[in-house]
Parts: sequence; C-alpha cells; structure tokens
Amino acid sequence: MNEKLELPPAQMRELGYRVVDRIVDHLAGLDEKMVGAKGDPAVLRPQLRQSPPCSGVPAEEIFSRLERDVLPYIMNICHPRFFAFVPGPSNFVSVMADALAAGFNVFNGSWLGGSGPAAMELAVIDWFRQWCGFPEQAGGLFVSGGSMANLTALTTARHVTLKDRTGGAVLYYSDQTHSSIDRALRVIGFLPEQIRRLPADSSFRLPLEALARAVAEDRRAGLRPFCVIANAGATNTGAIDPLAEIAAFCRAEDLWMHVDGAYGAAAVISDRGKKLLDGIALADSLSIDPHKWLFQPVECGCVLLRDSNLLKATYRIMPEYLADVHRNVAEVNPCDYGIQLTRGFRALKVWMSVQYFGLESFAAAVERGFALAELAEAKLRTMPCWEVTTPAQMGIVTFARRGSDHRFYARMHDAMLRDGYALATSTVLKGKTVLRLCTINPRTSDEDIEGTLDWLDALAESNSE
Ligand SMILES: Cc1ncc(COP(=O)(O)O)c(C=O)c1O
Repeated sequence: MNEKLELPPAQMRELGYRVVDRIVDHLAGLDEKMVGAKGDPAVLRPQLRQSPPCSGVPAEEIFSRLERDVLPYIMNICHPRFFAFVPGPSNFVSVMADALAAGFNVFNGSWLGGSGPAAMELAVIDWFRQWCGFPEQAGGLFVSGGSMANLTALTTARHVTLKDRTGGAVLYYSDQTHSSIDRALRVIGFLPEQIRRLPADSSFRLPLEALARAVAEDRRAGLRPFCVIANAGATNTGAIDPLAEIAAFCRAEDLWMHVDGAYGAAAVISDRGKKLLDGIALADSLSIDPHKWLFQPVECGCVLLRDSNLLKATYRIMPEYLADVHRNVAEVNPCDYGIQLTRGFRALKVWMSVQYFGLESFAAAVERGFALAELAEAKLRTMPCWEVTTPAQMGIVTFARRGSDHRFYARMHDAMLRDGYALATSTVLKGKTVLRLCTINPRTSDEDIEGTLDWLDALAESNSE
C-alpha cells in the first residue's frame, strides 16, 4: 500500500523519462505510421471495462496495457496526412509546457492561486488582441476550445445586451456556421424560432441582403434582433463572411457581432490571413482556437471581447469564501472572466512555443497551410475523375468524384480507415456530398499531398460501383 501516493525522485524520473521517450518515439515516427485506427466497441469496451486493482500494478504492465488497448486506437490528428475535420498539428514544445503546467498543478483561476500564470495569460491574450487589431480595452480568456469560446461569448452578449431576458430576441447566421453555435444557444436558452439560419450564398458566405431583410422583417413583427454571428473560416469550406460589411450593418442596427474564428482567426498572424480577415477587428466578440491553426495541443481555445469588462460584468460573482481573492482590485482573477473557477494554465503552451520558435515561424507555418491547399487544388484540376467544388480557401479544398453519390463517400471513408495512409472526410455542400482536405499541418510535405490524391484516386477506382 502507498497511502501517500508518492514516488521517490529516482522513480519519478524513470517514469517521466519513459513517458517522454514514448512521446518522442511516437512523434518522430509519425510520418511512417498509419494515420490512425478506430477500435470496435464490441472488443475495446469489454477489454477496458474492468474493476480497478486493489493494489498497484507494475508500471511495465500499465504501459503494455496502454500500448495494446488504448494508444493504437486514436486518430493522429497531428499526422502529416490527417486532412479530416480540422487537424491539430500541435508542437512538441507546447506538449512539454502542458507537462510543466500539470506537474506544477497550476491553479490558474485567481491571482492568489497563480499570479505569475495570471500575468502570463494576460500577456498572451494581449498578443492575440494586437494580432486581431482589437482596441486597448479588449481582453479575454483561454478556454477549452472553440465550443466553450462561443458559449462564453454568446452568454456575455445575452447578459450585456438583453440583461438575460431572451424573450423575442433573435440571432442571425449562415447555414455554414459550426454546430457549437447552435449548441451554445440551446444551452443559454434560445429556442429554434429565435434563430435565423440563413442560406449561404454561392461562395458559402452570409448574404448581406438576406440578413438585412430578415432583420427588418423581425423588427416589423415586433421581435428584437440582437446578434449576428459571422464566420472567419467556416468549417466546411474555409469561407469568410464579409466581416467589415457585417460589422457596419451591426453598428447601424445596434446588433452584437460575434465572429467564430475558432478555425480561421489564428491566420491573422500571416500576411495572407491578415488581408483575408479584414474587418475581424470590428467584432464585439471573437473565438480563436490555438489548438487548431496555432499549432497547440488540445485543449486550447480563446475568447476575446472588444471590452473585457463585459466578461467581468457577466461572470463575476464574489462569494464569502473567495473574499481573500477579491481583496485587491489591481489583481486580475481569471475566474471573474469566464465559467471555470479551477482552470489549467493554457497560456503557458502558447507562450513557450512562441518564445521557442518565434512568431515568424508561426506565420510561415500558417502560410504553408494556404499553399498546401492550393497545391491540392492544382493537382485535382489535372485529375479527370474529380471536380473541385470549392477552391482552396484558408487551407481547405473540397472536391467530388464525378458521377458519384453519397454512398460512394461512405465506402471511401471505410476504405480510407482500413488502409490508413491518409484521412479525408466528407461533408455536404448545398445538398451534394463532397470530400474535403484541411491542410493546416506545416509538416505535411508536397509529396504527402500528391501521394494522398493519387491514393484517393486509386481507392475510388476500387470503390466505385
Ligand atoms: C468554426 C468552428 N467553430 C467552432 C468549432 C468548435 O471548436 P472545438 O472543437 O474546439 O470546441 C470548430 C471546430 O472545428 C470550428 O471549426
């Protein structure tokens, strides 16, 4: 029995080195491995559903269980040929930062709990503020990901503009908007009849005329238009809504503008991204996910508010048991700005990796994502059996096999998983099923793109009817 749950230093080091070795082996050889594997629930679940051991099991055995039953069954979202959904390219320095944050068990909820980490979070959030061109009084918070960032922002919008009285209030966004927005609105009490999911235009952007018409109609009907949600990189196609025009409309109509840049907003650090995302600085609130295109390991999302005091107005509650935390007004308590009290030190990984590589390297890594999608598009245009359905945009290209229906894509999915060389996933654009590559991993080589498209072509041949 080990009632203190302690290890002597030599054993801690041994376990720690072993973990680091395992991570390094995994990452160093990733390129050669299958992109991932999916286990059968009928096999995996019984294998792992066991009572906990009464006494400790040797580390050797624990590791071999992991190697056998768990680690082989993941999708390697940082694999250079993982093009599905939104990849998580990650980076090793940030992985070590996560280990440090866990090792020191940093409580990043209050200034008292961790003034160094709180000050660092404020500093890193201020980088984001500047990258996005937000004013001085803007600020925000690290959260678990884009879903939480959207929830945190929309809850603030509801509190600040509606005083939490949602009756008759209406929100507007395009049908290309991520489902996390629908979920956030469900969580904070908006009903389906309060949501206008407007059909996107032929470029998959929110059409301004339809937006203006819907707002005017709702006003005539005595409803309360309240918020527009714009995409800064829609998940399906990478489309960016006309941000500057939407912002002008929102100003004129006195509407809150939330920008979901969970996927795309980090591209502002590159020259190309900055141009494409023109107008992002005008948002009232913005979601950005460093665990996507800013190369951080999961979980790392971020919410920015044009006026950080609005977060505080929404979330700050001062119970008697936190009186010591709230005594000094100069101290910033992250728990006052969001939903979590106990929270990890997510800023550390962003800070350490940007220190280590420098911002130029990050900008070049983002630029590479743009270029890889363009390379894929160019190659697809030379392949007679495929058609490009949306051009390379923010590191995403979509394409379809001529003459194929949705059943073909289901067969392709199974075939891709069986083979494991690469992974692309399907989506539906205006009723048509297509394949989609998201190419934001800077470790993807040109050969990976070419090889993947040739491989898809061969798989398609053998899976056509
Ligand atoms: C545009 C957009 N918003 C929100 C999300 C949700 O982010 P998360 O999965 O980090 O919660 C995603 C995820 O891909 C996304 O692409």
